[in-house]
Amino acid sequence: MCGIVGYLGPRQAYGVLIKGLHRLEYRGYDSAGIAIENTDGELEVYKHRGKVAELVAYCTGRKKEGTLGIAHTRWATHGEPNETNAHPHLSTSGRLALVHNGTIENFAALREALTGRGCSFVSDTDTEVLVQLIEYIQAQTACNLTEAVRLALHEVIGAYAIAVIEKDSPHTLITARKSSPLAIGLGDGEYFIASDASPIVEFTNRVVYLNDDEMAVIRRGEPLEVYSLDARPADIAVKELDLSVSQLEKGGFEHFMLKEIMEQPSAIRNCIRGRVAEGHIYLSGVEENKERFRNIRRIVIAACGTSWHASLIGKRLFQELAEIPVTVEYASEFRYSKTLLRPDDMVIAVSQSGETADTLEAMRLARRSGAFVYGICNVIGSSVSRAADTGTYIHVGPEIGVASTKAFTGQVTVLAMLALSVGQLRGTVSDAQVTEIARAIERLPELTEKTLKLDEAVRELSLRFTFARNFLYLGRGYNFPSALEGALKLKEISYIHAEGYPAAEMKHGPIALIDSDMPVIFIAPQDGLHEKIVSNIQQIKARGGTVVAIVTEGDTVIPPMVDAVLEIPAVPEPLSPVLAAIPLQLLAYHIAVNKGCDVDMPRNLAKSVTVE
Ligand code: AGP
Repeated sequence: MCGIVGYLGPRQAYGVLIKGLHRLEYRGYDSAGIAIENTDGELEVYKHRGKVAELVAYCTGRKKEGTLGIAHTRWATHGEPNETNAHPHLSTSGRLALVHNGTIENFAALREALTGRGCSFVSDTDTEVLVQLIEYIQAQTACNLTEAVRLALHEVIGAYAIAVIEKDSPHTLITARKSSPLAIGLGDGEYFIASDASPIVEFTNRVVYLNDDEMAVIRRGEPLEVYSLDARPADIAVKELDLSVSQLEKGGFEHFMLKEIMEQPSAIRNCIRGRVAEGHIYLSGVEENKERFRNIRRIVIAACGTSWHASLIGKRLFQELAEIPVTVEYASEFRYSKTLLRPDDMVIAVSQSGETADTLEAMRLARRSGAFVYGICNVIGSSVSRAADTGTYIHVGPEIGVASTKAFTGQVTVLAMLALSVGQLRGTVSDAQVTEIARAIERLPELTEKTLKLDEAVRELSLRFTFARNFLYLGRGYNFPSALEGALKLKEISYIHAEGYPAAEMKHGPIALIDSDMPVIFIAPQDGLHEKIVSNIQQIKARGGTVVAIVTEGDTVIPPMVDAVLEIPAVPEPLSPVLAAIPLQLLAYHIAVNKGCDVDMPRNLAKSVTVE
């Protein structure tokens, strides 16, 4: 997702827009840009790769007077993060400047049609197609900007929140939305527009939220006009905001981590969009390398931290669905090992940030060994995505909280799709298996939505354990990595010692630790090892342990045995870690909040470890 800002009023637009971009930077920071129109109707446009601070440095000393402007901070979806692809995008004549948050699904068809009519393009973005289309319509029909925008949006399929300004028209700003959020701030003789109210609320608390398929015409000194896309005047509902700025950047949540936990349904929806349909998986990285995937000898997955836990789940997925032997390596260990890699091996690098130094070095070592390198990351155009032969983005949106949450569930979802897709290619999964798992993947947004309803129960449970000094997390099979991930979440934000173990491993030593002061969290969904994990629970209870169990809803065996139960929806075993992760994330979050810890920026940690 991206952030857009606009201003029309008596102030110098530059300062308002830059401050607004800083407020929206959490939405993406691949590149930033600004277009200012002065009272003579001249347009100044500046764009720069990287964060807003780099744009500000670039603008220093350049002409930027003007009381009308639009600006943008980008989370790349189409086209690498670079200056050419940065917004605002200009029409060919340079008369129109446009910023956009969203994705235009039919941009390729529109681009082809416009190219056939003589339009040329300078960027790889879907957004440039829209601004060129608006100018083309103006040229063909001699209509004004408002009408041209309206007609152009009728041609668009997809999601957008846009702002458009025109050279020689310093008193008008056009804005419109469909599926992407847009707020209009009503000041005293001035207007603000933004992707959310955080850039607005310090200037005015009166806000109008456009509805889908609505556009607004903002004219200096005149009342706001809002229309439907079929040109009918729309009702204007003014709301009074009572949120603080920092709360708004977090969508009203207290912390980015909670916001990112709660947005996992939409994050997974974005992750699977266009990749799962009618029981078939479509991943471009696989489609373009079919022969390679048919002949893979073995897979090595290299990652760190939470990404390493997701990779352990990937190991089971590939071995069970694609029957390919997999080893999972800590990237920091792999990069200094004798890898014994061969050209018919594949190395998968898993990284949310795409900038983890150890993972990058592991990839470079793999490339030098001649292996095929596949990247799975979240940040478009990141180093991992550029160092890989091919790969898949998880598309869960910016993850700001240091503790990884939606990236983990996105990584597991992509690994499941990848293993299923390769299994189909190699003929190692039956059509029935593919259909069952693919349909369950399509239901993950709905199932995660349902699982998030555990939040209040987990918050209450956290009150019982906030001051425990040690935790154990136990799981088996696909959910042994879930145990490791649950322990890491707790450790890194609450600073409480926690260990994850395979449940059956307890009797080989760690069971000596058990006493009533050490909460033991079992991840025990209904799966092929359910009966075994029941006896593991009995072993703990027999020694006075305090047990919390995450079970599949309807389980009648485990609840009577344990001290607390958290029920998750039924889902095929390979996908159970996606749902089990949610109560584990919430438990860590609430315990950390109870302890007054800095949840989003825990001590000693960084969001991306770009050093050894
Ligand atoms: C997880 O909550 C941590 N923030 C950390 O372990 C993280 O997963 C690890 O540093 C790897 O980061 P990456 O996925 O960006 O490579």
